[in-house]
Amino acid sequence: MNKIVLGEPLNRVDGRLKVTGGAKYSGEYKQPGLTYGVLVPATITSGTVTAMDTRAAERAPGVVAVITVFNAPAVPGFQKDAVKPVRGLKLFNDNKVYFNGQPIALVIAETFERATYAAKLVTATYAETPFETSFEKNFDKGVVPNNGQYKDYVRGLADAYKNAPVIVEEDYKLPSEMHNPMELHVTIAAWVGDDEVHVYTKSQGVMGSQRSVANAFGLATEKVHIHSRFVGGAFGSSLRTWPHEIAAVQAAKLVKRPVKLTLTREQMFTSVGYRPLTIQKIGLGATLDGKLVGITHESHSQTAVYEEFTENAVAVSRFLYASANANTRYRVVPLNVGVPCPMRGPGEATGAFALESALDELSYKLGMDPIALRLANYAETDPERNLPWSSKYVKECYALGASRIGWDQRLAHPGSLRDGEWLVGYGMGCGAFGAHRSATTVRIRLSADGRVVLWSATSDIGPGTGTAMTVIAANILGLPADKISFELGDSGFPTAPTQGGSQTVSSVGSAVHDVCVALRGRLYELSGLPVDSTTDIDYVRVLKEHGLPELELSGESKPDAEAQKYSSYSFSAHFAKVAVHPLTGQVRVRQLIAVVDAGKVISHKTASSQMIGGAVGGIGMVLTEEAVIDDRFGKYINGNLADYHVPVNADIPDIEAIFIDKPDPYINPIGTKGVGEISLIGVAAAVANAVYNACGKRIRELPITPDKLI
Ligand code: MOS
Repeated sequence: MNKIVLGEPLNRVDGRLKVTGGAKYSGEYKQPGLTYGVLVPATITSGTVTAMDTRAAERAPGVVAVITVFNAPAVPGFQKDAVKPVRGLKLFNDNKVYFNGQPIALVIAETFERATYAAKLVTATYAETPFETSFEKNFDKGVVPNNGQYKDYVRGLADAYKNAPVIVEEDYKLPSEMHNPMELHVTIAAWVGDDEVHVYTKSQGVMGSQRSVANAFGLATEKVHIHSRFVGGAFGSSLRTWPHEIAAVQAAKLVKRPVKLTLTREQMFTSVGYRPLTIQKIGLGATLDGKLVGITHESHSQTAVYEEFTENAVAVSRFLYASANANTRYRVVPLNVGVPCPMRGPGEATGAFALESALDELSYKLGMDPIALRLANYAETDPERNLPWSSKYVKECYALGASRIGWDQRLAHPGSLRDGEWLVGYGMGCGAFGAHRSATTVRIRLSADGRVVLWSATSDIGPGTGTAMTVIAANILGLPADKISFELGDSGFPTAPTQGGSQTVSSVGSAVHDVCVALRGRLYELSGLPVDSTTDIDYVRVLKEHGLPELELSGESKPDAEAQKYSSYSFSAHFAKVAVHPLTGQVRVRQLIAVVDAGKVISHKTASSQMIGGAVGGIGMVLTEEAVIDDRFGKYINGNLADYHVPVNADIPDIEAIFIDKPDPYINPIGTKGVGEISLIGVAAAVANAVYNACGKRIRELPITPDKLI
């Protein structure tokens, strides 16, 4: 057998289960006596619930209970003296309404249809108070976040760009964007007695969910079992435990039966976060030969009045380019809206749109090629942290991307390249995201039949975690992939971090690497061979010879001190070729190339899919997606997938990912840096810059819809 190499383009190990319906998602677990929960949303945007009439709902067929603030059993973690209080909105704990659509009741019935019907019969009387949902109107109420992590940053002189010979100073606006994974958020809660509960839920981090539920209900952590084996997309919307998940557990306790609570698509717009509406100002100053003199980046984004959300929108401007002077300011504007949360490339995707657009604008002012401008300001070391990069191959990314897209066809003067009726343009934009790694434990077992199973409490929200882990294990152990299975998505498995921030392969993959090396070493030891021997041994025979029915090991793997001496980022350079129709304003993305410096690629097929998926998200960001609130009512007017436009197949061109595929020597034993976030960061700017190159219209307010171009 040919040994599996790192990078092997293995088919998804659970692909067949997924496409045949064999994969079981949270809402599909059978529970005896299951009941169904449907939330009732508030119809005001701010105020209090003074009374509720639940009688009609309670009399409706099949209704088991109607939970409101007036009868909800207390949740220990909601109390003021709780040891670990629940963060954010506490449903049914008080009568306050902070935003339109906030749940004010939960109807439990024998079927989903009956719960849905009865939920419509619940009425409330409110005392309304004035509300604010308009971002523009409240822009000046922006405050420095309370959490202390977003202080103003200055390197050298603040606002130094103002004194440079060539200046760009512009505002860039992004609307709120909704994650809208295909799978709705669903939670099934089933208690065992009074002190133990099973929760089947859409989660990016089963251990985080376990802690949240344990804290909320005052349970021992090990008495909370979170099951999230398959997740139908999340993009950040399942990084935390949401109020409806707590409500499902609370309801199951009250009715003493399992409860399944499914959000509707409309509720997905109010209850599980989104990328916040953001207005950014970029100031760039350069010398006539294109050396940056100063970078200023300011960002205002919306947050909720009841909980503060922050993200790294301005961080990219501190480290992406060499500039002696750089300063950033970050403000949040509390509004009567649901709280935002991280969405793929959280912060950086927003910030990179502004910075990479401004840099493109500067290139035209200077009469310089955008790639040449970036090369003139190449950061050879991290200018923010003053550390060497652990690895950085961005020059190679520029060169590969330019050659693959045919950058030499690009005409510097906008509006000069035609293809029939269409104007054609080229653009590029870069991305970067911190390459992180967290402590992870993996357990491994070799059985007498030669099969290997590994366990870790990580997740797979779609990237193909199990596939990448199988490649690593097969590579180290020298076994075929079908002899290996990787189990995840269960809080009872060994400790792993939440699947967020592009760190799963680096964290869990390193632990898989280490535990496989340990297992292999043990088997060589038993065979009387040195652990680094290259002789092939028959694992099954070794077990047999030593009378072992199986061999099981467990090991923790964590970042070492050496890695801290470097600044570690994944980088991407996105190249777009677009066509703009001058009469209709239609934009067609014709080609998108993502060139990726993410260290060693472990699983080529799934990593490519990650890059393609992120690029699709970027195309949505730049061309179609926008959640709109009618500020007269404080309510989303396009809170459904018919009116909120995600890109469809017809919007998506051939997208190609090219990997530099050079291992990072410091970050971890497998040399990976992560692709989840950089797949999206920089895409919006690449497309917007290509639109400008095509037709000469600079659109600084996303999405770039035809009305803005004609
Ligand atoms: Mo990602 S926004 O860290 O799920």
